[in-house]
Amino acid sequence: MKQVHPWERFAEVQEQVLHGGGAFLVAADASGKPNAMTIGWFQLGTVWSRPVAHVLVRPSRYTHGLLRETGEFVVAVPFGTMAEELAFCGSQSGRDLDKFRELGLRTAPGTAVRVPLLLDCSVAYECRVVARAELRPEGILDDGIQARYYARGDLHTLFLGEVLAAWDLTK
Ligand SMILES: Cc1cc2nc3c(=O)[nH]c(=O)nc-3n(C[C@H](O)[C@H](O)[C@H](O)COP(=O)(O)O)c2cc1C
Repeated sequence: MKQVHPWERFAEVQEQVLHGGGAFLVAADASGKPNAMTIGWFQLGTVWSRPVAHVLVRPSRYTHGLLRETGEFVVAVPFGTMAEELAFCGSQSGRDLDKFRELGLRTAPGTAVRVPLLLDCSVAYECRVVARAELRPEGILDDGIQARYYARGDLHTLFLGEVLAAWDLTK
């Protein structure tokens, strides 16, 4: 694996999260036990003069509590592979089972966070939460978004994570 600049493969990453089945958002509990959920929305940009990853997680997700508890995450992105694993991590909860054990996910320890990288992915970002913002109904200004995504509440929390290290796992 080779350390890269966070933007280096981002066009492929966007294609994967939008049209390729998503990416993995990995977090761990205080004891270091990891969990992965699938995400379809993931942005990278410069905020506060640093590279920052944006993920949106609904409060009902087990991952939401992990992010609040430890403040660290990894976004691991497969390029056109791992469809089964993405489907599993996007439909099962870490509250109910150990997804890493069920799927036999291959990992390497994070270098800057206590969250593992997924070795069968192509790219991974190690992140430390530097801010979070809870979406509120009055803050959703588009009725179509409100109706389509929030008819049952459970409005996302936006977690902003400083990218501490980015990896090309194919090299
Ligand atoms: C393609 C796909 C994209 C998803 N994107 C998100 C997302 O961006 N935010 C979110 O809160 N849930 C998203 N989900 C749903 C979670 O992955 C799912 O609820 C998962 O079981 C949560 O796992 P956890 O309870 O272990 O955290 C997505 C699911 C799929 C299949």
